[in-house]
Amino acid sequence: MCGIIGYKGTENAPEVIFNGLKRLEYRGYDSWGMATANGSGLDIVKQEGELEPSKTTEESNIGIGHNRWATHGKVSKTNAHPHVSCDNRFAVVHNGIIENWKELKEELNGHEYVSGTDSEVIVHFIEEKTGTETVEEAIRDFLNSAKGSFAVGLLDSKEKNLFAFKRGSPLALGVDGEGIFFGSDIYAFSGYTNESLFLEDNEYVVIENGGFVLKDVSGKRIQRKTRKFEWKEEEIDQKEFDHHMIKEIKSIPRTIQKLRTSLHSEQRESLKELKNLIQEHEKVIFTASGTSYHASLLGVFLLQKAGVEAQTLIASEFENYERADENTLVVAVSQSGETKDVLDAIEHSKGKGATIASIVNVPHSSIERKSTVSVRVKAGQEICVAATKTFANQVALFLELARETGIDLKTSELAEKISETIEKNEGKAKKLAKELKDKKDIYIIGRGPAYPVAREIALKLKEIAYIHAEGMMGGELKHGTLALIEEGTPVISLIPENSSEIESNVKEVEARGANSIRIASSGDFEVPECTPEEFTFLATVIGFLLTYYTAKEKGLPVDKPRNLAKSVTVR
Ligand code: F6R
Repeated sequence: MCGIIGYKGTENAPEVIFNGLKRLEYRGYDSWGMATANGSGLDIVKQEGELEPSKTTEESNIGIGHNRWATHGKVSKTNAHPHVSCDNRFAVVHNGIIENWKELKEELNGHEYVSGTDSEVIVHFIEEKTGTETVEEAIRDFLNSAKGSFAVGLLDSKEKNLFAFKRGSPLALGVDGEGIFFGSDIYAFSGYTNESLFLEDNEYVVIENGGFVLKDVSGKRIQRKTRKFEWKEEEIDQKEFDHHMIKEIKSIPRTIQKLRTSLHSEQRESLKELKNLIQEHEKVIFTASGTSYHASLLGVFLLQKAGVEAQTLIASEFENYERADENTLVVAVSQSGETKDVLDAIEHSKGKGATIASIVNVPHSSIERKSTVSVRVKAGQEICVAATKTFANQVALFLELARETGIDLKTSELAEKISETIEKNEGKAKKLAKELKDKKDIYIIGRGPAYPVAREIALKLKEIAYIHAEGMMGGELKHGTLALIEEGTPVISLIPENSSEIESNVKEVEARGANSIRIASSGDFEVPECTPEEFTFLATVIGFLLTYYTAKEKGLPVDKPRNLAKSVTVR
């Protein structure tokens, strides 16, 4: 959470930084800010809310910027980054949490703090230490004193230099002939260069005189080559659609095809390697959060069918439940590849000797780099905070993985069936959204592979349409939740062909007066003839459409729901 960017080069820094912040907006959108250096010192801009191009700083060739997702200190202009030293020489932007900020603050003398953030201590620390040390020494001192996770950008307006250092939070460096960039990920500068390298924990970079030097915490130079990354950037301003979410839902048939092609060409070897690792290990544990966790539930369902003993654990609870050892394969599933809970689960498992594999969307992400084998879901950049096309591609990847382990799954016309489902049901979703928009609670029920889909639709209704929703196993209703079903309560049932068990659960809610909404081959929402595996995709897209139109009907900020961010880099 929070996005940082820095630039020094021949271009106009405020413009480069603004463009980078626009691309990093999915990491946080409570407030934003930038600092550039001009002849007389720092030029600072801070704003609450949306990015505004007219509010950037004056022309300059060096600067830093920040998108905030509030952790310490409320959403306000004062708490927006950059934070500035008392003498106005230094400005910092920070992503992460400084756990011992109070202790650090107590060790410093006579600084004036203006914000309620943990981050402000960094700039005062650097200011105080540079009384007797060089900036680099002060950074090394900070790396040795700070606890927590951080990716920090530091602008020295006196020497007109940039520095960046990190532990636990991601930090990438971008290089082109005209300048050097740093950012929370490669999107920060992907509009300018595709040549990059990634900093590892406890490293820092000095950007000066048209070049950069990478060093470790002891000050030793590190030689690391930049690499070219291939990453097709989505248009930040969607033109033909009202929101990114609907654009991304409608791209699902295409993105699934793209994934399949890659799994039969450039990703063939990594898919095989993943399959081999799964078959070679005694224990296979998936770990993920949110939507990716729901995809992993489906993955486990499919692998169990193929005879693989697998399980999945929510990443934030991983350490409380797992017993990983050297015979364990841990497979992390993550869109961003940066989720802190997942990274912590990986570190913990590595410590126990487990092998790490992963399934990610963002190329070169931290999770990918920590894995022995990683397969990409190839959904392209997803801009809406809610995961839609990436969920579909994660599940599509699991289908291919299960097929690779030997089970016969018929899904050859999947993309066509998804397109047909969208076409047939979009109008119905728009109509029903008018009714659902005023509801307080919605229940979604499914069984077998439709159960994770029920949970996924519920998550979407909560985060995008702000409606309390519960996705559950149909068979569990009678064990308690049925008490909440009364006249008119909406219950969405996911009913694949020939599934008599879920039919009896539907009857149970209908007998209590529920507003019963059926997703079935003939129902309120109709899907074409399909296998149970294909049904999971078709029910998913209908659930996504319904959520989208309900949120739109309510006039909500569909692509940027309140309190959330796309890349969750805090615990
Ligand atoms: C919901 C959503 C989140 C993420 C979760 C994990 O629409 O996007 O629940 O799935 O924060 O993120 P990744 O997949 O990046 O690890």
